[in-house]
Amino acid sequence: MLGIGKVRLATNLLLSPMSGYCDLAFRLTIRPLGGLGLACTDLVNPRGLLEQTRKSMRIVETEAGDRPLCIQLYGHEPNKMADAALWCQEHKNVGLLDINMGCPAQKVCRRGGGAALLNNIPLAIRIAERVVEAVDIPVTVKMRLGWDDNEIVASELARQLEEVGVAGIMVHGRTAEQKLSGTVRLDEIGRVVEAVSSIPVIGNGDICLPMDAKKMIEHTGCAGVMIGRGALRDPWIFRDTQAFLTTGKAPTLPTNTERVELMNQHFEHLIRIQGERLGCLTMRQRARWLLKKIDHPPEFRERVRFVSSAAEYYELVDEYLR
Ligand SMILES: Cc1cc2nc3c(=O)[nH]c(=O)nc-3n(C[C@H](O)[C@H](O)[C@H](O)COP(=O)(O)O)c2cc1C
Repeated sequence: MLGIGKVRLATNLLLSPMSGYCDLAFRLTIRPLGGLGLACTDLVNPRGLLEQTRKSMRIVETEAGDRPLCIQLYGHEPNKMADAALWCQEHKNVGLLDINMGCPAQKVCRRGGGAALLNNIPLAIRIAERVVEAVDIPVTVKMRLGWDDNEIVASELARQLEEVGVAGIMVHGRTAEQKLSGTVRLDEIGRVVEAVSSIPVIGNGDICLPMDAKKMIEHTGCAGVMIGRGALRDPWIFRDTQAFLTTGKAPTLPTNTERVELMNQHFEHLIRIQGERLGCLTMRQRARWLLKKIDHPPEFRERVRFVSSAAEYYELVDEYLR
């Protein structure tokens, strides 16, 4: 069992935060499939949280069945980050908080947050220290290896973060400059594992199949893995990976019909939470990923891409199932 600070997780398999994807509806859809130890919200800005903007409130929307949950904050102002962390603890009753030190997007790095903190270790440490002081729940940091190949800082940063009380490190084995290109560097994730003394390091990047998780754990000695895009394509990846890690065998793959039924469940959560209009827009984007594992004629994909009402969606699916 994986422990992050005082929080015990049922498995060592975590869902990566993915801005625009890992909302409440997605988390509620995949949790019942099993295997998932912890889910995280998409990155959220402390100012938005403290001002309770509609966008930020939507990102941190949660309900009783959505546990255990971590909220991911990004920013560059230690006091704002600490205030927002406390707000999350008091108003959202989440189990953990994460600080983003890996997002390479210009909108996030421009003011010095996200992956820009990899270029400013003193500020990164000050932020972590303030957030850890502000809350009682465990605080983790999700980082990349460094800004670019000239400056691989993850091990040193992880070591210093542990000293100020951070309870776990998630490390995506790429540099910020790489974004999602190239492949993850397992050796570098292994160096981060060696750099800390007692907190868990969770490896991340390119896990598409259960054996990828096994390889990452064996190669790096990481305590668990975080899965992002693999879960958008195949929400059963947590169940299958857990089975594979414990028994050496993965369960039989879901059938096309089971996958379409899961897509329907996701659609129902979206409509309930976001309303019909926005739910349909979100479904267009989710279906693009889910259909990657479903055999289907190209017209089906094209029509789902433009779906604009619940009736139209169900008609399409009925036609497909027939
Ligand atoms: C569409 C998208 C949005 C992302 N948003 C976030 C985010 O909000 N916070 C974060 O820490 N990482 C974010 N990431 C990075 C992922 O969490 C993860 O580190 C990366 O996708 C590598 O893992 P994977 O190969 O399993 O997808 C995002 C990635 C994608 C593809």
